[in-house]
Amino acid sequence: MSLLVTNIGELFTNDPGLGIVHDVAVVVEDDRIAWIGPVSSAPAADSALDADGAAVLPGFVDSHAHLVFAGDRAAEFGARMAGEAYTGGGIRTTVAATRAASDDELRRNARRLVGEALRQGTTTIEIKSGYGLSVADERRSLRVAAEIVEETTFLGAHVVPAEYADRPGDYVDLVCGEMVEAVAPYAKWVDVFCERGAFDAEQARAVLLAGAKHGLGLRLHANQLGPGPGVRLAVELGAASADHCTHLDDADVDALASSDTVATLLPGAEFSTRSPYPDGRRLLDAGVTVALATDCNPGSSYTSSMPFCIALAVREMRLTPSEAVAAATVGGATALRRTDLGRVSIGARADLIVLDAPSHLHLAYRPGVPLIRTVLHHGVPQ
Ligand code: NIG
Ligand code: FE
Repeated sequence: MSLLVTNIGELFTNDPGLGIVHDVAVVVEDDRIAWIGPVSSAPAADSALDADGAAVLPGFVDSHAHLVFAGDRAAEFGARMAGEAYTGGGIRTTVAATRAASDDELRRNARRLVGEALRQGTTTIEIKSGYGLSVADERRSLRVAAEIVEETTFLGAHVVPAEYADRPGDYVDLVCGEMVEAVAPYAKWVDVFCERGAFDAEQARAVLLAGAKHGLGLRLHANQLGPGPGVRLAVELGAASADHCTHLDDADVDALASSDTVATLLPGAEFSTRSPYPDGRRLLDAGVTVALATDCNPGSSYTSSMPFCIALAVREMRLTPSEAVAAATVGGATALRRTDLGRVSIGARADLIVLDAPSHLHLAYRPGVPLIRTVLHHGVPQ
């Protein structure tokens, strides 16, 4: 099956040879981009979609989300907006609710959020576990995640669960032993919350190396609540991404700049925890590859909206609109080490967004406005 997307006013390709091009058409063959060129020389196709002069961009690649959970923490958010600080302590509330939920409740909630994200232009989303924190609950969390998406991440080292509070070392041993073994068939990545109050650098290193031994790629929650060793550990171990990067010193920025580790910024978390935003401009100017993601979770960032994150990154992190759109597409793909996603080039996956606007600028210029007119997911209009 082929589909001609025609009358594209602005095509945001992320293809270094093409950049942003105007007045073009794209042909999609099955789930791949097959042709890009002027409207006047577009080949015939089985069907057509008229973009009517609008902007078309790659579907968003949300490389960081926690979607397997039950319940919400609206009251905690309300208390925060009344002055309380975010500590991550509420994670245990979600762990209790998640353990009490059936597989089907977890599946339905995760699917609901993936659908919500898709309607807002997200065509790829990563899902982490991390609200089970027992062998059985982490395993079923990842089983559910793997039913829904390709990119799944084992976050058994999210926090130390209450029953291990007085023996955190035993919990790390469990994560590095029986737990990683049980989840490995369903996980592609391993992640650790490396932070004061969660796991220190040595514990994080042990968990990441255990994951690597089981064939998992590495990612890390790093430097979210304060400065720390997370970013440098991520770089040292060759992790695909260091996520949050809210509190960075010059050595962290230099380490990222001389590595393949992507800095994944999560402005929804700063928004929802009323925290200072990291300076994305500083990272880009240093030559760091930056991704933008939602961090969608019931505690620190309950948004599935990449357009919202783009607007925040432009306004609060000093990215230009085109840098923010690139970070939300090809940046996320790079953070997942995927070269087939996040760009409009021949052979790439046909994940496209048709905006209800003439330019990608409108995503930040018109914050909060539903600008996603049509989404093509694996070549299929939604
Ligand atoms: O990425 N930082 C750790 N984990 C999540 C928050 C989880 C929660 O509060 O439930 C995050 O922000
Ligand atoms: Fe997170």
